[in-house]
Amino acid sequence: MSSTAPIGAFDSGMGGMTVVKELMQQLPNEQIIYYGDTARVPYGDKSKETILTYARQIMNFLISRGVKAIIVACNTVSAVALEDLKNEFDIPVIGVVKPGARAAAEATRNNRIGVIATRATINSGIYKEFLCRTNPDIEVFQQACPLFVPLVEEGWIDDEITDMIIHRYLDGLLKNGIDSLVLGCTHYPLLRDRIQKAAGNEITLVNPAFESSREFKYLLEENGLLNENAAPGAIAHKFFVSDGAARFAEFAARILQNYTVTPDSVTVHSFD
Ligand code: DGL
Repeated sequence: MSSTAPIGAFDSGMGGMTVVKELMQQLPNEQIIYYGDTARVPYGDKSKETILTYARQIMNFLISRGVKAIIVACNTVSAVALEDLKNEFDIPVIGVVKPGARAAAEATRNNRIGVIATRATINSGIYKEFLCRTNPDIEVFQQACPLFVPLVEEGWIDDEITDMIIHRYLDGLLKNGIDSLVLGCTHYPLLRDRIQKAAGNEITLVNPAFESSREFKYLLEENGLLNENAAPGAIAHKFFVSDGAARFAEFAARILQNYTVTPDSVTVHSFD
């Protein structure tokens, strides 16, 4: 596989664009092929079998587009399906959970860490497992926040209703004396300022997207796949969704400040 081949990234929908933003910053020479399963989002309340079926379809699709490595830019898929995908596919692949857990373990000073994520990610217990494996003294307190995803997709970021819901989810969690909080879902970094306001400035918010992109770079290096040569012009990244190209382009524009995703640059591809 050539180092000039594109990298693949996928998510259950649009939230993985928070990971794409980091990839664009940390891997500026790489062309990205992104798949967002916008027709079937959310994955966060689905069974492992369903999530694995969808993830396999997307992996095969990205591989058919010639990608050299894949980042699973979705906490839910990373939490419940990554090990199966790694065993089944002969391509370098990483998820966002392990790097996120590592960043949280480094950030905490009192070994009390909060994790917020979808129900599937929380129920998998994977953040807890990685954190406690990194340091057995760490105590983990978790809270599923399913309403955050639709709020973000509606663009209700600076909104008093969103603040109320954040408090409803976080107030109990914060009573545990945590000093770090993992934003364990791709959408949550978009609520970062509001969550920080509710949690208070003494709590460190950990965004797995940053750490995962860094780790993805190491993975490419290790496999001799890092593209060292800058492309002569601007890189044309490719975006695929299973539905709603225009809505995706609008959402992407809110996230990416230095790159324009027009509705024309988004292709609809569904598996049904
Ligand atoms: N992308 C998912 C995650 O990071 C959130 C949306 C969903 O439930 O599918 O967990």
